[in-house]
Amino acid sequence: MQIQKALAAACSALGLERLDAQLLLLHVLGRPQHDRAWLLAHDSDALDPETEMRYIKLTRLRAAGTPLAYLTGVREFYGLELRVDARVLDPRPDTETLVEWALEVLQRFPIRVEDTSVQVELAKAPPRVIDLGTGSGAIALAVKHTRPDAQVSAVDASVDALAVARDNAQRLGLEVHFRQGNWLDGMEQCFDLIVSNPPYIAEGDPHLEQLGHEPRLALTSGPDGLDAIRTIISQAPARLWPGGWLLLEHGWNQAAAVRTLLVRAGFMDVQSRKDLAGIERCSGGRWPQA
Ligand SMILES: C[S@@+](CC[C@H](N)C(=O)[O-])C[C@H]1O[C@@H](n2cnc3c(N)ncnc32)[C@H](O)[C@@H]1O
Repeated sequence: MQIQKALAAACSALGLERLDAQLLLLHVLGRPQHDRAWLLAHDSDALDPETEMRYIKLTRLRAAGTPLAYLTGVREFYGLELRVDARVLDPRPDTETLVEWALEVLQRFPIRVEDTSVQVELAKAPPRVIDLGTGSGAIALAVKHTRPDAQVSAVDASVDALAVARDNAQRLGLEVHFRQGNWLDGMEQCFDLIVSNPPYIAEGDPHLEQLGHEPRLALTSGPDGLDAIRTIISQAPARLWPGGWLLLEHGWNQAAAVRTLLVRAGFMDVQSRKDLAGIERCSGGRWPQA
């Protein structure tokens, strides 16, 4: 079958978006994902039967809802090429809002004390950051890549997710300390910045049906979706240096509830940030100076 016919069949018969159909075809052809112009230039080339069969199989899986990134095995996040599969959440572009905010907070480092003589000393120490629920390692690796001077740790409850994150870190040559655990349980050190995109979908939410290919542990968190966020907010004060920040991603309709939880826990400068669609997607606050 010719390339143009294979693409047309994937779009018309299976209902795939043209971009997805093209990216899957580039994948089976072993070409880079940015090479869509190549497909146009070669639209009358014939696919060999084995490539055609692989393409048909992947387009059917995509039509059945498997995330594109699981089929191609890669996801670009904050300029990094991450390997992803069904062991981890497919990182979303919205989460780059959280990374931007984290990097902005780190620009103000040192943030631990106001005494200027101590600040001079602290300026020599690396800022300490922890990513809770790291999944593929997306947030931790993006922070470490942009701020190589930061000491970055990352936690996940899932051994499978940690294997993916460690593999990404190794391939990208980024040093992140990974640990299996339940949020901040058993953590002894303190951080300048705690950042997290935890599961935040309510059990029973109808949207879960469309997300059935991703790990349930990465998605849901109690009847209102806020169980993980409540736990992290309650644990964070003991693990933040005075002046340190806690930044959380949450659902489109959870910003007000998360701000209330942060204020009640004693955080200052509590605020939210909007994602690319203009939705309040992250909220955070600063732990007061002693
Ligand atoms: C929404 S995903 C975020 C993944 C990644 N940070 C990202 O932004 O793409 C939430 C992650 O939290 C992890 N997780 C769920 N419960 C946890 C717990 N009790 N302690 C630590 N991590 C947990 C899941 O395994 C999953 O990797």
